[in-house]
Amino acid sequence: MSEAIAYERVGDVAVLKAQNPPVNALGIDVRKGLLAGIERAESEGAKAVVIYGEGKTYFAGADIREFGRPPQEPYLPGLCSRIEASPLIVVSAMHGTALGGGLEVALSSHYRIAVPSAKMGLPEVNLGILPGAGGTQRLPRLAGTEAALEMITTGRHFGAAEALDKGIIDRIEEGVPREIGLAYTQELLDAGAPRRAVGEMPAPEAVDFDAVYEATLKKGRGQLSPATAVRAVQAAAEAESFEAGLKRERALFTELMESDQRQGLIHAFFSERAVSKLPELEGIEPREVAAMGVIGGGTMGAGIATAALLVGLSVVLIEMTDEGVAAARGRIQGNLQGALKRGKITQVQYDQLTGEALTVSTDYAALGKVDLVVEAVFEDMGVKREVFGKLDAHCKPGAVLATNTSYLDVDEIAAATSRPQDVIGLHFFSPAHVMKLLEVVVAEKTAPEVLATGFALGKRLKKVAVRSGICDGFIGNRIMNVYRKAAEYVVLDGASPYQVDKAVTTFGFPMGPFAMGDLAGLDINWAARKRRAPTRDPRERVPRFYEMLCEGGDFGQKTGKGFYVYEDGPRGGGVPNPQVAELIAKDQEQQGVAPREFSDAEVLRRYMCAMVNEAAKVVGEGIARRPLDVDMVMLFGYGFPRFWGGPLKWADLQGLDGILADIRAYAVEDDFFWQPAPLLEQLVADGKSFDDLNKGA
Ligand code: CAA
Repeated sequence: MSEAIAYERVGDVAVLKAQNPPVNALGIDVRKGLLAGIERAESEGAKAVVIYGEGKTYFAGADIREFGRPPQEPYLPGLCSRIEASPLIVVSAMHGTALGGGLEVALSSHYRIAVPSAKMGLPEVNLGILPGAGGTQRLPRLAGTEAALEMITTGRHFGAAEALDKGIIDRIEEGVPREIGLAYTQELLDAGAPRRAVGEMPAPEAVDFDAVYEATLKKGRGQLSPATAVRAVQAAAEAESFEAGLKRERALFTELMESDQRQGLIHAFFSERAVSKLPELEGIEPREVAAMGVIGGGTMGAGIATAALLVGLSVVLIEMTDEGVAAARGRIQGNLQGALKRGKITQVQYDQLTGEALTVSTDYAALGKVDLVVEAVFEDMGVKREVFGKLDAHCKPGAVLATNTSYLDVDEIAAATSRPQDVIGLHFFSPAHVMKLLEVVVAEKTAPEVLATGFALGKRLKKVAVRSGICDGFIGNRIMNVYRKAAEYVVLDGASPYQVDKAVTTFGFPMGPFAMGDLAGLDINWAARKRRAPTRDPRERVPRFYEMLCEGGDFGQKTGKGFYVYEDGPRGGGVPNPQVAELIAKDQEQQGVAPREFSDAEVLRRYMCAMVNEAAKVVGEGIARRPLDVDMVMLFGYGFPRFWGGPLKWADLQGLDGILADIRAYAVEDDFFWQPAPLLEQLVADGKSFDDLNKGA
């Protein structure tokens, strides 16, 4: 018998226990063991089979690590059909997360029972594939077409109660899976219950599948798997037989399995988990954090305080004036009211979080007991150093002192204290209680356990924490500044901002750089440009239309006008601002630029090449440790489409030699901006990919 599946006989019932930690993924050994278990039960004259998982879960799905490798028999679809075809009564007893292929094994069983806390789902579309072991054929036969379409195209997890309500499972029972499974099976045997194969049930009803397909494609912003899954469910309703439906599902599954998007999404899945695992932190205990301080109650400070309160930390927020105190409290209350409305917290919790858990004060002495403090004040070195001087004076020994700066040198900030080993950068993204990214910036003297504390806090706040070294803009903003510049250059040379935004959203970003500028406030970037102007390299091309727009008082959404005009308010999306074309024409005239046409493909290519090139510099300089660190920053902080896995995964998929060749070609026009990253040149010369670096190759 296979090690991954234990076989036990209890009277007439054969019990198959999965023991493949951590999540009982359906790897080759598990599949072999299940097949052998069913065969043995049949040959030994058992009357029924119970399948359940040891440890924290029933099967959480196919073994994703096997994707892309040559498949080995028995394949999961055949195994599911074999389970379903068994003359014995097969019962699955579920707990934990029965996902993907796991739920498909359960759907191939004849009866399903689950503990109340069990979660289920067919999340395959989130990995760029679709349920390929009969899930798209069996789920609609149980839950109906509409419910199945919704569950499969979103890939969402649902609870046991919903599964029971929709007819996906037969019973919910408190207890341990083995016992409830055995009791239920005995009951079925005693009652003479029939074998009940979902594949033998009538086909589900047809709906307007073309309409669902179109709507799903649009919602996916270019992601193919959810829309393709619609076609598979369509086959459940329309194919001439269950087997024909399975065949169609298989063909569509194989198509997706071979797609770049599947590679991108699986890269994202593993990178999301790998990004916070730093070898240097192994065995290093983070410091305890129960109480957190926040300096500054603007949008960022209030967002950080909200995020901390929501995970059970107490917060002391410092503002400069009584008015500032009231405004900060109001912002936090507003954020928490949002959480209350969405049902994330109860009224009692709201009262507790805004009451005893939160202190807002003008007195730094209130910080005496906090374990970690995050400064989120105005982005100015003098101001930050003054704040850190005060933190040094008021915080207890061992408290972690963090700055939320987005650009400034953390070493210089740390030098304003007598304890630079306790200083770290924690760069949140606005709104901080919503955005998932946290850049953990390591300064020269940051102690290892302070870094560990930053990562532990990130985990507690449910953020994706990424380690960054020090440079202007750290990982994310540094790269963004470069691709935004590339966008401005193509506009100066003849493309329109709207063409750029469209090319970028068609690629899968939620917004283009100009719409994004309007949202963030053009004045913010204008201030940064003014700050950098004196030290700018004379060889740098400087488009002026951006400043001209700001000089006219148009800062984007907050003034009702920027690159777009927002007559219906920000939510209306805005229409192109006609003055922008005039400003661009003026800029071109003053700089002697003869505008030319750009195809959408070229616009996008330049944007992406600039992003990849700067990302390669960030990795090459050691600011980011691995290419996947950059990928996760861009995915979770900048709206990079997940189905491409991140800019460096995208680059691998496109081919690094082609990207380098294009960068060199662009350098003929502007060899200052388009300087190829040495790491990119090296990888091309060695015939390697960014992913090779992720794997330590
Ligand atoms: N295959 C291989 N490894 C998996 C895995 C899978 N399906 N699911 C999780 N793991 C690994 C994780 O990579 C992680 O490994 P490390 O500890 O080495 O990093 C470990 O299991 C624990 O996972 P998490 O850290 O995510 O643990 P969690 O408790 O937070 O979450 C989970 C558990 C809900 C199962 C989550 O891991 C998850 O959502 N997994 C993916 C489930 C999924 O998408 N299943 C469908 C697979 S596709 C399929 O089944 C289609 C088919 O028919 C071919």
